[in-house]
Amino acid sequence: MSWFGQKSSRATRTPRAAEIGDTMSLGGWMRRTLGNRNVQLRLLMCLAAVVAMLIVVEGWKPPQTWRIGDRPAEGLSDPATAANGRLVEPGGTIDAGTLVRIEQIHADRQFSSADLLVRGITVVVLLVVLLTLNGIWLVRSRPALVCHAGRLGVYLVTVVLTVAVGRLLSADPWRAEIIPLLVTVVVFAIAWDQVVAILTALTLSLLLTISTVVEIGHFVVLLSVSVSAILPLTRVSSRSTLIKVGFWSGVVFVLVDWGSLAITSSESAGVLIDSVGLWPLLRGFLWCLVAGYLVAGSLPFIESLFGVVTDISLLEMGDASHPLLQELVQRAPGTYNHSIVVGTIGEAAADRIGANGLLVRVAAYFHDIGKMLKPEYFIENTTAETAGRHEQLAPAMSTLIIIGHVKDGVELARQHNLPQALIDFIEQHHGTTLVEYFYEEARRQAGDEPDYPTDPVESSFRYPGPRPRTRESGVMMLADAVESASRTLAEPTPKSLESLVHRVMLRRLLDGQFEESGLTLSDLHVIEESLTKSMIGIFHGRVTYPEQRTASA
Ligand SMILES: [Fe+2]
Ligand SMILES: [Fe+2]
Repeated sequence: MSWFGQKSSRATRTPRAAEIGDTMSLGGWMRRTLGNRNVQLRLLMCLAAVVAMLIVVEGWKPPQTWRIGDRPAEGLSDPATAANGRLVEPGGTIDAGTLVRIEQIHADRQFSSADLLVRGITVVVLLVVLLTLNGIWLVRSRPALVCHAGRLGVYLVTVVLTVAVGRLLSADPWRAEIIPLLVTVVVFAIAWDQVVAILTALTLSLLLTISTVVEIGHFVVLLSVSVSAILPLTRVSSRSTLIKVGFWSGVVFVLVDWGSLAITSSESAGVLIDSVGLWPLLRGFLWCLVAGYLVAGSLPFIESLFGVVTDISLLEMGDASHPLLQELVQRAPGTYNHSIVVGTIGEAAADRIGANGLLVRVAAYFHDIGKMLKPEYFIENTTAETAGRHEQLAPAMSTLIIIGHVKDGVELARQHNLPQALIDFIEQHHGTTLVEYFYEEARRQAGDEPDYPTDPVESSFRYPGPRPRTRESGVMMLADAVESASRTLAEPTPKSLESLVHRVMLRRLLDGQFEESGLTLSDLHVIEESLTKSMIGIFHGRVTYPEQRTASA
C-alpha cells in the first residue's frame, strides 16, 4: 500500500537506503558540501585571505622586535664593531638613534632559504588553524555572516586591512596599532555582535603581536583593551557612548600595559614610572581616545556599509520633523495618530521582553506610510464624504488597494533612503494575514449570487508577506493589529480590551504568523499583558469601570 502516491519496491528501496547512508557519512557530507558552488566560492575567499595575510605580515621573515624605550636584559651587540663593542649595554634603554642602527642591522641580516621556508609554513599553519577555529564557530553560531559571500568578504577584507594598517602604525615613534584594532572590533560589535567582535579581537591581537614585537605582554594588552571596549557596547545610544568607550579602554591600556611591563621586566615596577616609561602609557591612552572619536565620527558610513541602525540614527529618524512623517500628518492624519499609538504601546511591549523598544517605536512611525497615497480608502482617515469608497468597489479590488499600502510604503521608504531595517518592518507588519472583512464580504457576495457560486480564493485576500522575521517585527505586528481592532470597540472596558488583545494574539499565533519571528510563547504572554495594560491606559478616559456603571445607574 502506498501512503504518499508512490509505490516503494525492493528495487527503489535499496538505492534510497544507500542515499541515506551517504547523507549520514562524513564522506557523503564532504562530497555534498564541497560540491556546492557557494561553498567553493567562500572557501576560495578564505584561501585568498590567508595568502593576503601571509603577505601583509611578511610571514616568512622574522620581524624586528625592538622598540624605543625597550631595555634588553642582555644588551645588544653590533656585528660591525669589535666583539666587545655593544650597541646597547645590558639593562640600557634603546633610544631613537640606536633604533635606526638596529633596523639597519635587521635589514642587512641574511636568512637562509630553509629558515624562511620553515617560518613561512609555520605562519601559514597558524593562519589556517585560526581561520578554521573561527570558521567552525561562525558557521555554527552566526551562519548569516558566513553564508553570505558579500558579508564574509567584508569581514575578511576588514581583518586583513586591520593587520596591514596596524603593522604600518606599529613602528616607532607612533606605535599606534591599537587604533585600527579598536576601530575594527568596535565596528564589528556595532554591526554584528559582541561575541563576533571578541573572537575577531583575539585573532587580530595574536596576528598583530606575532608580526610586530612578539611579546606575550603585548598580546595581553591588545586583547584586554579590545575586550574592555566591546563589553559596554550592548547598545550605542549616543555618540558620547563611543567616546566613553575610547576613554575607558584607554584607562585599561594604561593599567594593563604598566602591569605587563612590571611583570615581564627585570627592573622593579617603580623604576618604570619615569619620564621614559610614562610616555608610552600616555600615548596608548591617547590612541584609544582617538579610536573612540574615529568610530563616533564615521558612524553614518559604518551604518550604511553594514546595513545596521544604531539608536543614534533611530532617534534622529524618530523626530516628528522627518519629511516623510510631515507628509503623513498632512495627507493621512488618522494613520499618523494610529502610528504614534502603535509606537507607544509596541515600545513598552518590546522593552518588557528585552527586545529593542526604540526600534519598534521608530519603525511604527513609518510602518503605514504607504497609506498616504490613497488615504481615503483606510478607515482611520475616512470622513463623512469619503466614507462609502469601498461600497462602490468589488471586495477583490478593495483588498488590492488595502494590500497595496505595504508595497507603496516600501517604495516610499526606498525613495527617502530609510534604512533596510525599517523597510523590513513595513514589509513584515501584516505578515501573510488575511484581509478578513473583504474576504468574508466576497464569500457572502458569491453565496448570494446563484450564477457565480465559486468561493473566492483565500490566498488572493492575503498580504504577500513575508511573516515577521525578528522579535521586534512580531511585537509590531501585534501592536498594530491590537490598535486597529480597538477602534471597533463601541464600549471599551478593561475586560473587553483584555479579551480583544487575547483574541488578536491567538488568531495570529494559530495562523502561524510568528513562526519565523523567534518569539516564544512566554514572550507572547508578556507582550499580551503589556499591550492590554497600555490599551487600558490609553482608553482610560473612555473606559467605564464597573463601579462607575453602578454609580451612574
Ligand atoms: Fe499596515
Ligand atoms: Fe498599521
